[in-house]
Amino acid sequence: MLDGRVKLVAISHVPTNGGLVNPVEQIGAITRQAGVLYLVDACQSVGQMPVRVDGIQCDFLSVTGRKFVRGPRGTGLLYVRRSALEKVEPPFLDLHAAEWVDRHRYVVRNDARRFETWEGNVAGRVGLGVALEYCRQWGIDAIWTRVQALADTLRKALAASPGVTVTDLGGRRCGIVTFTVDGRTSEEVKRALRARDINVSVSDRASTLLDMQARGLDRLVRASVHYYNDEHEINALVEAVQDIGR
Ligand SMILES: Cc1ncc(COP(=O)(O)O)c(C=O)c1O
Repeated sequence: MLDGRVKLVAISHVPTNGGLVNPVEQIGAITRQAGVLYLVDACQSVGQMPVRVDGIQCDFLSVTGRKFVRGPRGTGLLYVRRSALEKVEPPFLDLHAAEWVDRHRYVVRNDARRFETWEGNVAGRVGLGVALEYCRQWGIDAIWTRVQALADTLRKALAASPGVTVTDLGGRRCGIVTFTVDGRTSEEVKRALRARDINVSVSDRASTLLDMQARGLDRLVRASVHYYNDEHEINALVEAVQDIGR
């Protein structure tokens, strides 16, 4: 499959609409062997599980601040492996990404900052740094253990609830738990939970069209657990969903 036409393989480590954790390390071993560039979208994984670029062997890794990292909206990170730097062109060049050295000549920076722009939201970046440091203080291994335990409890309890279908995929699953309730739209479930002070979101078809189409799904309720949740809250969510489905 990875013949000369393939320039880059891009994959979401954790897609937005379910518990699935993609086997990014195994894919990395294949792309490395084929000499194909490899980009991992880790927006839904960083902050809830350990993510190590050397284990994954990716050339690029993108991260958002606003999800499991618990940082400010509109912030993010891009990791670029040094060996991949010259193989892709930054979309914008300004006085930060490159130096204008002569009338018809500029020199692009030789580090990943060539993908940054001069102007940025400094307060947001500071907030992102604080959020990452906070995450480090708890310890990502401890966070991951806790997230998996809570999500597992929630998934099992929802799956055992009449009229509730858990729609998560994958052998390895994370803190995103998705489900549908017979006879209720996902929006109805979200609204009814909100009225009980429980926040969930709805994933619609357009966010992950190919997967939703392939599975004949339209909308899902998405409960994302994190380390600050507790078993009491998980029970309250399950009881509320059961009640809504009656
Ligand atoms: C897998 C994945 N990648 C990227 C994004 C985009 O994140 P942001 O809008 O913060 O850049 C999302 C958002 O839901 C996502 O689920």
